Amino acid sequence: MAATGSEKQGAGENAKAFYVSTPIYYVNDAPHLGHAYTTVAGDVLTRWHRQRGEKVWYLTGTDEHGQKIMRTAEANDVTPQEWCDKLVTEAWKPLWEHLNIANDDFIRTTEKRHTDRVQEFVQDLYDKGEIYKGGYEGPYCVGCEEYKLPGDLIEAEDGTKLCPIHKKPVELLKEENYFFKLSEYGDKLLALYEANPGFIQPESARNEVVNFVKQGLQDLSISRSTFDWGVPVPWDDKHVIYVWVDALLNYATAVGYGANEEKFASTFPANVHLVGKDILRFHAVIWPAMLLAQGLPVPGRVAANGWLMVGGEKMSKSNLTGIKPQDLTYHFGVDAYRWYFLRAIAFGSDGSFSWEDFSARYTSELANDYGNLASRVAAMVGKYFNGALPEATASGDAEKAIHDGLTKAVTDADRAIGEDLDFQSGILSIFSFVKQVNGYITEQEPWKVAKDDSPEGKARLATILYTAAESLRAVAVLLNPVMPETSQKLWDSLGAEASLGALSAQPVQNAATWGQLPVGATVTKGAVLFPRLEEKPAA
Ligand code: MSP
Repeated sequence: MAATGSEKQGAGENAKAFYVSTPIYYVNDAPHLGHAYTTVAGDVLTRWHRQRGEKVWYLTGTDEHGQKIMRTAEANDVTPQEWCDKLVTEAWKPLWEHLNIANDDFIRTTEKRHTDRVQEFVQDLYDKGEIYKGGYEGPYCVGCEEYKLPGDLIEAEDGTKLCPIHKKPVELLKEENYFFKLSEYGDKLLALYEANPGFIQPESARNEVVNFVKQGLQDLSISRSTFDWGVPVPWDDKHVIYVWVDALLNYATAVGYGANEEKFASTFPANVHLVGKDILRFHAVIWPAMLLAQGLPVPGRVAANGWLMVGGEKMSKSNLTGIKPQDLTYHFGVDAYRWYFLRAIAFGSDGSFSWEDFSARYTSELANDYGNLASRVAAMVGKYFNGALPEATASGDAEKAIHDGLTKAVTDADRAIGEDLDFQSGILSIFSFVKQVNGYITEQEPWKVAKDDSPEGKARLATILYTAAESLRAVAVLLNPVMPETSQKLWDSLGAEASLGALSAQPVQNAATWGQLPVGATVTKGAVLFPRLEEKPAA
């Protein structure tokens, strides 16, 4: 049985990193919400594992070769390299910075650290007899950069054969190619899926792949000879390496394959490859087969997210439905943006979204439930205790219910986000705790208790406010991977940094340990976490 990337992680120097990747995106155009969806999910997963105290490696990058990029560059009268450089520096990297993506590396497939190693990898497979020369004729979709099986195509009204994803006509190609003996890996792949039921997520995606492989695999054309924007096949420079083989190898070349043994051994294989469901087969069939052929370990998990839909179709630039993340962040803010898509759509399922839905959730869940709680508690500690966190000396059943609620939220969120990649459930667990704390304040009515000047009244008031502030301390820790900027604001307003240290150093799994905020902490009414939204600007 091949080794996998699913072993438990540690934090030690030599421990294997928990390695998360996004797809590397085509730079034929600027990024849209769909690309940001996968990248934000990866970032939340990464930050969650970092806050478990694990060593983590988060990789993203760009896929720059192939016909699609070449044609775009031609249409814009520049060389493909010039086009890629422009898009990467002006659109892709700035967006990830804007969205607060904490990737450790950004790989571009035109970099020498990648292309040299791709040639070595393919040469090795050739030397091992895994690659042979043949001919191929079939329908090709440039949008997917993929030969399609005739059965996969859909028909336009006039009978033209269309790609089912791009809804554009396919091109009939006939080429002399090099082929990888993918057909020999069917049984090994089925054994891998069988031995490792979590290898493909979600279940529906797993079933689709298993059925596909059971039908029998064809050998894979791994070179193209009718254009030259790619990595040359080392033994035959009339061919360039098929863009998908080139692209998949980024997951190995970026972490030192063939160049830095130590880095490679402590990082590879990925624990989680996050991919859109459209590119699942490449990652769950072709990629592990390439690794098996080379005797390398296969990834721990390939997790497919669903599509963001517009008007019932996959949102995409080619459908002219690509919306820029900045069109939403300028209005809702970056943190709310990071939260919204993971909160509103079950990861793995397709989901529609709307400005109205985003506004409604922002107002009710972020501004009213969460933001108001934070500002009310800080205001009351200010008003009744001069901003010095009081001691809880009169805890009873109501407080016990809060402690229990927090313990449950931490356990549920850690399993959902950290293990199951069920971001929606994880976020909901944290927010149901926020609701519980709101309910606690409503029931305990601290503003009424404040009127009771007796020692018992004072002790109750102190207990209620300590309990609420300590609950918020935990919420800041738990939401930090999702909304790092607002969590930091809350952390600052609770005066937590002085005694507990940096927010990102707070282990999520210890968030329910009660009593971490010290008595006397300086609580201030900081900036409003989620300001009221202005009315939607006229289109
Ligand atoms: N370059 C290949 C991937 C190579 S990985 C070795 C590619 N690039 S892409 O630019 O088309 O982007 C692919 C990824 O973007 C999808 O797999 C998905 O993760 C994300 N999405 C693009 N459109 C999307 C939606 N409408 N909805 C959700 N995610 C989408 O394929």
